[in-house]
Amino acid sequence: MAETFRDGLFEGKTAFFTGGTSGIALRIAQRFAMLGARVALNGRKPDKLEQALDGIRSMGGDPLGFACDVREYGAIAEALKRTHEAWGPIDFLFCAAAGNFPAPVLGMSANGFKAVVDIDLLGTFNTCRSAHEYLRKPGASIVNISANHGHQPYPMQAHVCAAKAGVDLLTQTLAMEWGPHGIRVNGIAPGPIGETEGMRRLAPTEEAQKAVIRHIPLGRMGATDDIADMAVFLCSDAASFVTGAILRCDGGQALTGPRALSAMTSS
Ligand code: COA
Repeated sequence: MAETFRDGLFEGKTAFFTGGTSGIALRIAQRFAMLGARVALNGRKPDKLEQALDGIRSMGGDPLGFACDVREYGAIAEALKRTHEAWGPIDFLFCAAAGNFPAPVLGMSANGFKAVVDIDLLGTFNTCRSAHEYLRKPGASIVNISANHGHQPYPMQAHVCAAKAGVDLLTQTLAMEWGPHGIRVNGIAPGPIGETEGMRRLAPTEEAQKAVIRHIPLGRMGATDDIADMAVFLCSDAASFVTGAILRCDGGQALTGPRALSAMTSS
């Protein structure tokens, strides 16, 4: 898709992204900006945030940015409040902030386990919980970014598996509680997506990347654009009767089982 605002699908809509300064969430934010949405990005690191905002500005957008940690309820709540003050009700909320490092259970401290669970799961709770009063009702769509880790175990990823399983059940619980408010809540579970910080950590060598691809029926790593396509669907009217769904976007990787990912962490 050309990097221009040539289609007005999300004209006049507001989208807020946690973990929006790189990888999957940044690509979705760029796509939503291309489709006419006003986008607000959250990330922990001010320099990365500024770079991401500049990228969207260079496409003609006028984004908002908030450097804060999703583990701090008050900070993320303030970011959402300020977005609402600037642009009114939030139409689309993406919870994508995530942490990861490959380590066996005996190689991670309680604090290492907690760091990932807090960023992924507590961060998603904090963001959704504090966003509720600022979301468009009816009409808002929340998309929580999970992973194949949410529905199957992977060695070296106990912290992420525990966190993402929690995220998926939180997503589905919110779908039940907030459906009557006119808010749809869905998840996307990406498989291995190239050019992301997660994959740089999990499959740092060419050999490890090849091992990953051998376990993907479609024979390639995913692209951030694959996830952006699914995000556009979930936020469009085409998904107006879809809530509580956790949609896999993984080239079929989950079908090949937990060993697929252990190939990458052991290569
Ligand atoms: N192996 C084992 N433990 C590790 C580790 C590693 N590679 N990296 C971090 N930890 C542990 C730290 O030792 C610390 O535990 P300790 O206090 O018992 O020593 C704990 O994790 C918290 O680390 P800290 O440095 O305080 O950082 P943090 O709270 O900011 O979070 C990460 C650490 C690794 C979770 C976070 O920086 C991160 O995920 N960064 C990468 C982002 C990323 O990959 N995103 C894509 C996700 S798919």
